[in-house]
Amino acid sequence: MSILLAHFRGINRVGFVALVVASIGILLSVGATAQVSEEEHARHHPAQITPSPGTSPAQSPGPGMMEGMGEMMRGMHGTPPKELYPSLMSLPKLSPEQRTQVEQQADERIRTGNSLMAQAVDALAQGAASQDYAAMQDATTKLHEGMTQLESGISAKRALAEGRAPLDVALEWFRREMNLPISVAPASVGLLGNMQFHILVITILGAFAAVMIFMYFYKMRRAEHLLQALTGGEPSTPLARSAIPAPAAAIVAAPPVATAAPVSAAKKWSGKLRVGRIFQETPDVKTFRLMNSLGGALPFTYLPGQFLTVAVAPDGQLMKRSYTIASSPTQHDYAEIVVKHEDEGIVSGFLHNHVKEGDLLDFSGPSGFFTFTGRECKCILLIGGGVGITPLMSVLRYLTDRSWPGDIFLLYCIKTPRDIIFREELDYLQRRHPNLRVVITVSRPEGTDWKGPTGRITKELIVQAVPDVASRYVHICGPVPMMEVAKKMLIELGVPSGRMKTEAFGTALGKPEPILPKTPAAPSLGSEVSLPTVTFSASDKSAPLPPDKCILDVADEIGVEIDNSCRVGTCGTCRIKLLFGEVTMAVEDGLEPGDKERGMILACQAKATANVEVEA
Ligand SMILES: Cc1cc2nc3c(=O)[nH]c(=O)nc-3n(C[C@H](O)[C@H](O)[C@H](O)COP(=O)(O)OP(=O)(O)OC[C@H]3O[C@@H](n4cnc5c(N)ncnc54)[C@H](O)[C@@H]3O)c2cc1C
Ligand code: FES
Repeated sequence: MSILLAHFRGINRVGFVALVVASIGILLSVGATAQVSEEEHARHHPAQITPSPGTSPAQSPGPGMMEGMGEMMRGMHGTPPKELYPSLMSLPKLSPEQRTQVEQQADERIRTGNSLMAQAVDALAQGAASQDYAAMQDATTKLHEGMTQLESGISAKRALAEGRAPLDVALEWFRREMNLPISVAPASVGLLGNMQFHILVITILGAFAAVMIFMYFYKMRRAEHLLQALTGGEPSTPLARSAIPAPAAAIVAAPPVATAAPVSAAKKWSGKLRVGRIFQETPDVKTFRLMNSLGGALPFTYLPGQFLTVAVAPDGQLMKRSYTIASSPTQHDYAEIVVKHEDEGIVSGFLHNHVKEGDLLDFSGPSGFFTFTGRECKCILLIGGGVGITPLMSVLRYLTDRSWPGDIFLLYCIKTPRDIIFREELDYLQRRHPNLRVVITVSRPEGTDWKGPTGRITKELIVQAVPDVASRYVHICGPVPMMEVAKKMLIELGVPSGRMKTEAFGTALGKPEPILPKTPAAPSLGSEVSLPTVTFSASDKSAPLPPDKCILDVADEIGVEIDNSCRVGTCGTCRIKLLFGEVTMAVEDGLEPGDKERGMILACQAKATANVEVEA
């Protein structure tokens, strides 16, 4: 049983059911076809009865055996007993004429049998008197032949008279011949022509298959529940609930982001992750290795280049920020985010200064479409600036982990040599992978021993480092001004804009627009008349929507809660449904394919010149 289970574990759900159904089908069909007519059976097994002198044929009679009996009689008697038993086998189908014929044959046998026996008795008496043992032996043989004739004739008469299945009559005769117990239970035939025994076997196997299917689905359901519990969702049972250990050092009182969704590459996940390790990469950059809060594999899967959104409450107020996963999806046990401590940055400062190994943090994701898996094209040019190397590093690690055969170029611009993130790893990977070329340029080399390229990324540097650049697929991530310049240069070098992907980590200005206190704005008299209005249907609130503000800004002002993170149109956290009107969005990266068709917009980007209504 356990072997079977282990075997079935390797079969997927559909395959398993198909296998069981197919097995039952085969069993049924085998059962059904196994119990064909006797004639059919005899046709398929003609050699089953092979009588030989002194040996007994198989016990179950059939036409083959009947022929065998004929042969036997033929051997023992000059006149073979004709085809009496074969005729009897088809007794139910016999016409009245044929029945009469059989009856006549039976009478003839009885007569012949009697006569043979009488002759034999006389011969036996004479032989005994003259002590002629050879004659006595002949007489005995004749006596036996007579008995046989008589017996078959009587059996035939009985079958005709009683209307019993000739098979039984023949079997009875045969058993008597062989000195076997005479009582023979009639073969009972049931459903679909199956014998009861077969039906019983099929029922047992069917029940076994049903138990297997039940166990399989039960196991899957149980595993799903456990997984949900492990990944921060509501445990399904008290057992699962108690299986979750208390956090070693919970650091924030941040409320849970949301209930955990089932684990799926396609679905977003949210829940707690444990900070397994913290690595100081450069003076102001730290890597946070995030792990399943209960150990084991990560509770989600992701693509190289996607990001997670962390929710923390540094000053008691919930704040969300997005951080790219820099590790490779080939690592199933952890995901690493690499955070630069921004000057006066609230969340990055909190992560750097307060979070320690073992802490649990609330995350959601993975999100984003700034991904590259190697299937898109045969070569890739990655251009990064500062901490913008994180998504590129995930791609690079993923491609080298998988020994991707295409060309990989990394152009990386950083302020000083000591700011180079992953310096040693990049050297190491480059040594091991001849298809990887890394060019680092330092924009402020003064006072350092940097011997490599200096200055920002230029057209010359690109041409020098990347042969045939126009044919490359390009991913750019870094400060917005740097990305804009890089894009312009690449277009001038012949790279179609459709082959370039960019990701911004923040606004061009660096600091997001200040969020005003959540008190209703007091619109001026003039603006009330001229400005369009945004209506938040779920909150039953409306407010003027100035042309320089997005819907998220107005929502913040009048106290309408809209989940948000990057506020630059990248993360997609602020997606809401537009119920009425039209909006424009400067950045739409956070929208998923099909979102627009479904009327979804990014509140942090949406601006309007006429009245709009949104679901929030
Ligand atoms: C998709 C995406 C992926 C990202 N991936 C990463 C990543 O991998 N690594 C990473 O480090 N970041 C990443 N970011 C950026 C990250 O989300 C945060 O924006 C960043 O960490 C800054 O957040 P903060 O709370 O620390 O700064 P905030 O408090 O939000 O401040 C933002 C900026 O304003 C400046 N600032 C704040 N207060 C002042 C002030 N009084 N005067 C002047 N300037 C001020 C800060 O220096 C900072 O640059 C990503 C962003 C996005 C959208
Ligand atoms: S908040 Fe990130 S897309 Fe709007």
